[in-house]
Amino acid sequence: MTDANCSDTLVEINGLWKVFTDRPVDFDLQYEDAMENLEDNGAVVAVRDVSFQVKRGEVFVIMGLSGSGKSTLIRCISRLVEPTQGEIIVKGQNVLEMDEQQLLEFRRYETAMVFQHYGLLPHRNVIENVAFGLKLRGVSERERNERARTAIARVGLEGWENHYPSQLSGGMRQRVGIARALVQETDLLLMDEPFSGLDPLIRREMQDTLIRLQKEVNKTIVFVTHDLGEAIRLGDRMAVMRQGQFVQQGTPEEIMNNPADEYVERFVADERALLSGKGRQPVYFPSKSRLTKKAKSTSPSAPLAAAGAEVK
Ligand SMILES: Nc1ncnc2c1ncn2[C@@H]1O[C@H](COP(=O)(O)OP(=O)(O)OP(=O)(O)O)[C@@H](O)[C@H]1O
Ligand SMILES: [Mg+2]
Repeated sequence: MTDANCSDTLVEINGLWKVFTDRPVDFDLQYEDAMENLEDNGAVVAVRDVSFQVKRGEVFVIMGLSGSGKSTLIRCISRLVEPTQGEIIVKGQNVLEMDEQQLLEFRRYETAMVFQHYGLLPHRNVIENVAFGLKLRGVSERERNERARTAIARVGLEGWENHYPSQLSGGMRQRVGIARALVQETDLLLMDEPFSGLDPLIRREMQDTLIRLQKEVNKTIVFVTHDLGEAIRLGDRMAVMRQGQFVQQGTPEEIMNNPADEYVERFVADERALLSGKGRQPVYFPSKSRLTKKAKSTSPSAPLAAAGAEVK
């Protein structure tokens, strides 16, 4: 790949809004009065005029408190949640203009999703869970098992192919979730709090696994977390979200060194306290090492969505 290709924008989001409401929104959301009127009538503005770009090979982290709109936003990218207004361009394709068939193919071939609560199919073993999306694509049994075995080995689960989800620990289940996403061989990986349900040591281990995998497979990743430490470890760039809006975007260093407002400052102060109190290494320095890095509840439809199946 040439340098020019490496810096290609893979995802571009412009002026994205998601309003949960039982009435149609057919006016310009930029007008304050319109918004107030909507909110007075019980609408929830979950994503508010969000714009960002993710470059090929980049890990872009969306961080914010519970309810700030992170899941809604990441789900809008593959239209698991239908956006109200705005533009989503992935690899030059306008996602909001896709018809049902195009959207199905987009979900199957262009994106893979990892959820917080794994979303594995309980009555299928590890290899069947990992290969399920390939089965939907019509890949032959021999090829899909071969590809699934490779993905399972990548996440360190060799030997566990015939076990069922209930026989695995949380960390192992999430490894299956990651293998299932990797096997799809999509450029774009969407990860919604994938490690939040794990205890701190396992969580750290999973972050290391993701950093190692990213060196090997060089995906473009949109990663949601409510933990600034995790954002700093994993993100090339990040955004801090509050009440549906991006309050700051930048590299983790920029955000740590120059928090835009009190909301961000609070996260930064907590993280600094953790770093000094527990002797954790300040992983956000020096910035050069980062550059060479190259390398809430899941809905019942999560296993299908993860495999690129129709979820409506
Ligand atoms: N289907 C829905 N209908 C109505 N409101 C919704 C729906 N889904 C989410 N919301 C609301 O949108 C806002 C953002 O929710 P969202 O789940 O995106 O937040 P989050 O940042 O992912 O939170 P968490 O960290 O707890 O997962 C919240 O106020 C939530 O109640
Ligand atoms: Mg969420």
